[in-house]
Amino acid sequence: MSVTQQLTFPRWANQVRSVVGLLFVLGPLYALGLVYFGGAPRTTNVGYMPAQPVPFSHAQHVGQLGMDCRYCHLFVDRAAHASIPTTESCMNCHRAIWATSPKLLLVRESLTTGKSIEWWRVHDLPDYAYFDHSAHVARGVGCVSCHGRVDQMAEVWQDLSLSMSFCLACHRSPEQHLRPPDQVTSMDWQAPNGDPIAHGMVLRDRAGINPSTDCSTCHR
Ligand code: HEC
Ligand code: HEC
Ligand code: HEC
Ligand code: HEC
Ligand code: HEC
Repeated sequence: MSVTQQLTFPRWANQVRSVVGLLFVLGPLYALGLVYFGGAPRTTNVGYMPAQPVPFSHAQHVGQLGMDCRYCHLFVDRAAHASIPTTESCMNCHRAIWATSPKLLLVRESLTTGKSIEWWRVHDLPDYAYFDHSAHVARGVGCVSCHGRVDQMAEVWQDLSLSMSFCLACHRSPEQHLRPPDQVTSMDWQAPNGDPIAHGMVLRDRAGINPSTDCSTCHR
């Protein structure tokens, strides 16, 4: 084949050229659209804080009242997903406390209608990534390592980027993030002697903790 033959475009190439041109214009628009209209993964959205239907405050319930996470997020140490509390569990207290507060109107309505409150999701990994709470919480990785100081949040926001490199950094060297499993919900636990790595290494050895970095651990 000669050089000229290679460089000569057939007649249909003109049509292709206009189609390709159109793609060059539409491609970036499409990508922008994905970013702005929800196609972008929420997981790396540090600071994402959707307005919730009820002004529920973790700072008030955890920070001031000292409630444990597991009172509301029931299965976080036993299942892949941390459940969001039912209306009934709020009403255990709010039948008596702030029983007529306008801020709790939607909660009382939800109890009457039986329709659950539609909380907005804050953290949401893409479907192709697999995550399991119990695998972390039961092994002594505290909530604060991935969600930050929830006890100081009037409204929950995403505090850390839950990107693949974030997951992998800890899977490669988890020591400094390990604590005794009975301290996982504590927001201000400190390692003894101010040395989280030394303390974590002991815990790691004792429990044989060895997080995998195989692709199939998180992409199955
Ligand atoms: C009194 C009940 C209650 C307690 C106690 C509680 N939470 Fe929550 N939590 C909720 C409710 C209700 C929501 C959903 C509304 C919202 O996001 O504020 C929620 C949402 C969250 C979310 C965001 C979930 C998402 O959509 O991604 C995280 C993270 C969270 N809680 C962590 C914690 C941690 C950590 C603790 C303990 C330090 C805790 N919670 C204690 C009731 C509670
Ligand atoms: C263990 C008891 C208890 C549970 C369970 C509980 N709360 Fe509360 N909540 C309180 C107390 C006590 C206050 C008042 C704190 C204060 O005045 O500082 C409060 C305050 C509030 C307020 C502010 C009311 C106002 O008018 O200022 C809202 C809103 C609220 N809670 C929503 C919820 C929701 C939603 C749930 C369920 C996810 C829930 N609470 C579960 C005890 C509870
Ligand atoms: C190793 C990191 C990590 C730890 C530790 C962790 N979480 Fe999460 N959490 C996540 C990720 C990632 C998501 C999003 C999961 C998804 O989209 O499938 C999430 C989601 C949530 C949600 C929303 C419901 C759900 O399961 O998707 C709640 C509530 C929550 N976490 C509470 C907690 C509490 C309470 C603790 C401590 C007892 C905790 N988390 C510990 C990473 C973590
Ligand atoms: C702060 C440390 C830390 C972070 C961050 C972390 N992990 Fe882990 N992960 C661990 C530890 C510790 C284990 C338990 C290893 C063991 O039991 O030997 C684990 C185990 C797992 C497992 C194994 C569960 C099973 O069934 O065997 C999966 C899946 C997993 N992590 C996914 C993730 C994903 C996805 C992310 C990021 C969103 C993440 N992890 C972030 C520390 C972490
Ligand atoms: C510890 C958990 C974990 C392991 C192990 C892991 N991934 Fe991921 N991966 C994730 C999470 C979480 C995301 C989603 C991150 C986001 O939302 O941006 C992701 C995203 C991706 C993406 C999408 C593009 C991107 O970068 O966001 C590709 C491709 C990918 N992973 C490939 C791999 C391959 C190949 C391996 C093995 C070498 C691997 N992953 C191992 C957790 C993991």
